[in-house]
Amino acid sequence: MSNVIEDELMSSSVIKNLNVLDFDYAPEELIHRDEQIRFLAQMFKPLLSSVSQNAIIKGPVGTGKTAIAKKFCNSIVNIARKQGKIIEYVHINCRKRSSDGMALLGVLNHFDSRFPDRGFSVPEMLQVLRKQLQKRDAQLLVVFDEADALVKKSGSNLIYDLTRFSDESSMEKIPVSLLLISQKDVIPMLDPATISTFKRSNALSLNKYTRDELYDIVRQRVELAFHNDAMNEDCIDLIADIASEWGDARFAIELLWKSGIAADHQHVEMVTPEHVRAAKAETYSVVTESKLKNLDRHQLFTLYSIAKRLKKDGTAYVNTGDAEKTYAITCEEYNEKPRTHTMFWNYIKEIEGAGFINLKPSGKGQLGTTQLISLPDIPAEIVSNKVEELLK
Ligand SMILES: Nc1ncnc2c1ncn2[C@@H]1O[C@H](COP(=O)(O)OP(=O)(O)OP(=O)(O)O)[C@@H](O)[C@H]1O
Ligand SMILES: [Mg+2]
Repeated sequence: MSNVIEDELMSSSVIKNLNVLDFDYAPEELIHRDEQIRFLAQMFKPLLSSVSQNAIIKGPVGTGKTAIAKKFCNSIVNIARKQGKIIEYVHINCRKRSSDGMALLGVLNHFDSRFPDRGFSVPEMLQVLRKQLQKRDAQLLVVFDEADALVKKSGSNLIYDLTRFSDESSMEKIPVSLLLISQKDVIPMLDPATISTFKRSNALSLNKYTRDELYDIVRQRVELAFHNDAMNEDCIDLIADIASEWGDARFAIELLWKSGIAADHQHVEMVTPEHVRAAKAETYSVVTESKLKNLDRHQLFTLYSIAKRLKKDGTAYVNTGDAEKTYAITCEEYNEKPRTHTMFWNYIKEIEGAGFINLKPSGKGQLGTTQLISLPDIPAEIVSNKVEELLK
């Protein structure tokens, strides 16, 4: 047995640097985002004259929002320092810190890692923050990443309070700049007083990566992470093709990583398209299986009906009326009584909440409550097969 363990642990890998495939890793050079980084530089240029700015970045998953914000903010800190100006840059992940207190504590921890995590109210913490900045003669640049989580849970109070730091009316003006990052547009979620501090022009909107952009991103990552010649050329094309459906760089890099692992498991020296296909299959199953197990029987019937319908019709959308008919048939197949229309509607809402389906209002000429259902990122075939297995 110990030989087996040693063999596996000591076996060679196609990957030379695993860290580079980590979710949090961002390469020195961000591909195809020069223009967007230039735009950030234009927006935040006033900071070098100690004038604060507020801005937002929005864009779908894996489009480089976090990576370009970090890259830009670190650069402006360094450039300001050369000019004798101190910018304190703090990056807060609001998914992890979604209350005002937690988010603000994250900011204070930048200055004092042992700042107590309880016992201080938000106004007191703001006071401490003011003192820290005065003491250092510094300005502050806060990035609220995944800002929608903060605003959803706690409203826009903290954002408003921080913008007030640099307000003309406040006693001692300290430049505090905010960068809000989110997949959705957060501006409409803010209250009117806070919205007015965000200029309409200070919004950077990122698009999904195209297939060719993903190709370049994956190619760069291959060079950083894999041994020379460990990656069959076709693999990069295939990964770019697969990921282009979502335009998501993170998904592309995850596929790359899993392809490498698949090759290692077979103790071969080169990653081939077959490993990529295996990685793709596994990526689906991880996403769906763990989440599918949380659904109850009728939610599964509902999802199954939608997937079956989409597969059969070959369409992008199925309307709720057709889905309900298929649901009734599915229930019969499994010898169960279909639940009421209201219950069915709840199931639809629940599986939408869990991220399995998207809903949008149907066009004119349909009944008022009819909606169109689509599957966001999993082929209908895979969904119906997996649900079928679970229903057995
Ligand atoms: N232009 C790029 N060049 C190289 N790597 C990139 C580029 N854009 C994104 N990446 C890589 O893709 C992954 C996802 O990027 P990032 O975390 O910035 O996405 P995001 O838009 O913040 O996504 P989310 O909405 O899920 O937070 C990271 O590993 C990042 O390093
Ligand atoms: Mg991000």
